[in-house]
Amino acid sequence: MCGVVGAVLRDQPALEGILDGLRVLEYRGYDSAGVAVALSEGVAVRRRAGRIEALSEALQDGALSDARCGVGHTRWATHGPPNELNAHPHSDHSGRIALVHNGIVENHQELRRELIEGGVEFRSDTDTEVIVHLVARELERLDGEGLSPSLADGVRAALQFVEGYYAIAVLRTGPEPELVAAKQGPPLCVCVTDDGAWIASDVLALLPHGKQVVFLEDGDVARLSPGHCEVARPDGAAVERAAVEIQWRAEDAGMAGFDHHMQKEIHEQPAVLGRTVSERVGEGDAALGSGWTDEDLGGVERVQVLGCGTALHAGLVAQFLIEGLAGVPVDSDYASEFRYRAPRLVPGTLALAISQSGETADTLAALKLAEELGCRTGAICNVQGSSLVRAADSVLLTDAGPEIGVASTKAFTAQVAGAYLAAVRLGRAKGALSEVEADAHLAALRGLRGQLEQLLSDEAVAKVREVARSNQDAKGFLFLGRGVNYPVALEGALKLKEISYVHAEGYPAGEMKHGPIALIEPGMSVLVVNSQGGVADKVRSNLEQVKARGGRVIVVGSDEESLALADEAIHVPASSEWVSPILNVVPLQLFAYEIGLLKGCDIDKPRNLAKSVTVE
Ligand code: G6P
Repeated sequence: MCGVVGAVLRDQPALEGILDGLRVLEYRGYDSAGVAVALSEGVAVRRRAGRIEALSEALQDGALSDARCGVGHTRWATHGPPNELNAHPHSDHSGRIALVHNGIVENHQELRRELIEGGVEFRSDTDTEVIVHLVARELERLDGEGLSPSLADGVRAALQFVEGYYAIAVLRTGPEPELVAAKQGPPLCVCVTDDGAWIASDVLALLPHGKQVVFLEDGDVARLSPGHCEVARPDGAAVERAAVEIQWRAEDAGMAGFDHHMQKEIHEQPAVLGRTVSERVGEGDAALGSGWTDEDLGGVERVQVLGCGTALHAGLVAQFLIEGLAGVPVDSDYASEFRYRAPRLVPGTLALAISQSGETADTLAALKLAEELGCRTGAICNVQGSSLVRAADSVLLTDAGPEIGVASTKAFTAQVAGAYLAAVRLGRAKGALSEVEADAHLAALRGLRGQLEQLLSDEAVAKVREVARSNQDAKGFLFLGRGVNYPVALEGALKLKEISYVHAEGYPAGEMKHGPIALIEPGMSVLVVNSQGGVADKVRSNLEQVKARGGRVIVVGSDEESLALADEAIHVPASSEWVSPILNVVPLQLFAYEIGLLKGCDIDKPRNLAKSVTVE
C-alpha cells in the first residue's frame, strides 16, 4: 500500500533524499504523492495527483529544497479519490504539523464528527486527516495543562483515540524541527546515521543511507533526531529496539539494463533459484533456516498453508509437494478467507504462511489466528526483518532479492523452491523419505538452474513473443493445468490479468468440462500446461476436448504428445514432475509480459494494484 518516508538531518537538505525514497517506494502505491518540510515559518506542503515525477516537477522552484526535516508519501487511495486534496501529507490548522499515513483509520467517521463539533474544518475526504487534527488537539490540551509537550507526547495521546491500522510519520516545525513515527499494523523501519535519521515503510528506501535497520513494533512511537532514534511504548516507557543488518544492496533495486523490473525479475530466476537452493542443500537433506529442528518437524501432523495472490499459488504447489513427498496432509487457504471462517485445526498442525513482502495484512492476521488456535507457525518469506519473519516460530528466507515489479515473478519460483526444500526436510524428519530419495529430489531441484537459463535464452523468449503476437486479439484466455501444475495455470491467468487487463481464467483441467467448456469457441485461446508425469494423459484428453470445440490450444510443458497436438507449442525442458512448476511458470510470466507490452500497459505499475497489501 502507501509508501512513507521521513528524514531529519543535522546540516544537509532532506528533500532530494525523500524524493529518492519515494521513487523506490512508488511500487507500494502510485496514484498521488506529496512532501512536507519544516521551514521556519511553518510546514510547506506540495502534493500532486499522479506519479512522483509530477511531484518532482512541482518542486523545481527550489522553495522546499533547503529544509533539513521532511516527510513524503506515495498513495494507494483507500478513502477519497486520488486527487491533490486527498494526497498526503495532511496538515493541521496552525500549519505547524504535517503527517503522512499508510493504513486505515476504522473509526474515522466518528472522530471526524467529534473534531468538526470542536471547530475543525476538514480539507480532504481521507481518513488520515483526522489523525493530524487529533495530534494538534492533544498538543494544545497538554500545553493547556502546562506540560510543554513534545510532538511524541502529542502523537501518543492522539493515537489513543485511533482504531485501525497505521504507519505514520509526523513532523512539527519549531526552533528544532521534530520528526516522530508510530505504527500499528503496517511496517515502519528506521536507519540512524551519524548526521541524520531516516524512516520508511520499506527497507529498500533506507538502503542508500545504511544497512543497520531498526524495525518498529506495533505500539511503538519513535522520536527521530540526527544520530538518534528513541522508541517509547504507548504509555511513554522507553524501549530498546536492536538493529538488524540488511543483506540487500541498494543497486539490487535497479533495472540492470532491462526495460522493466518485471522483465529483469523474470530473468533473474536462474540466479535466484541457485541462491535459494545451493546454500541449503546438504547430504540427503536441506537446511531451511532458523527454528526448524527435526524434533519440531517430526511432530508436524498436518500443514495449513496460508497466503494471498501469487504467494497462495506457490502455497497450492506446496500442498502437492508436502503431501506427495513428505506424506503429511495439507490444507491451503486464502488468508483472507481463513481468518473469517471458524477453522478447526488438529493438534500438531504447522501453519505455514507464504509471502514475498511479509507484510500482507490478511496473511499476518491468518497466521496470528492459527497461533491463537495452538499451531506452531512457519513462514516462507523474502524480506528480512518483515512482520511475518518476526512473527513466525520458524522462517525460511527465500533469496530472491528485492522484487519491485508489482506482478510477482521471481518470488514465486523462490517460494516454490523453498516449499520443495521444506517438503524434503519434512519427509526426512517424518521418515517418509530415505536419504537416497531425498538426495534424488534435491538433485532434481538443483538441476533446474540450467533449464531456467534455457527458458530465458533469446530464442525461447522470441518464441513466447511470437505466440503472444498471434494471440493478442483473443477475446479471452483459459489456462488449464492438473496436479502440481494446476496452481501454475492459476498463476498464468493471474499474471495475464494483472499485466494486460485481459480476461483470463485459470482452471484445473479436469474441471473444465463442468463449466468453462461452455466458453470455448473460435477466438478463445486456451493455454494448457502439461509436463511429463502422472497426469499427462489426462490433461491430453482435456486438450482434445478443447480442440474438438474450436478453441485455439497453446501447450506449455514437456509432454511431447500434447505439444504435437497444439496449435502453438512452447517447449519446456523435461524434468521431474515435482519440480516442473518452477519451469512451466516462466513462459507464462513471459507471455503475460509480452501481451502487456503489445497492449501498451504500464508493466511495473498495473492499474489499481499495489505490491504490498498492508490493509484488509
Ligand atoms: C499483492 C501483489 C501480489 C502478491 C500478493 C501477496 O496482491 O500484487 O503480487 O502476490 O499481494 O503478497 P505477498 O507479499 O504476501 O506475497
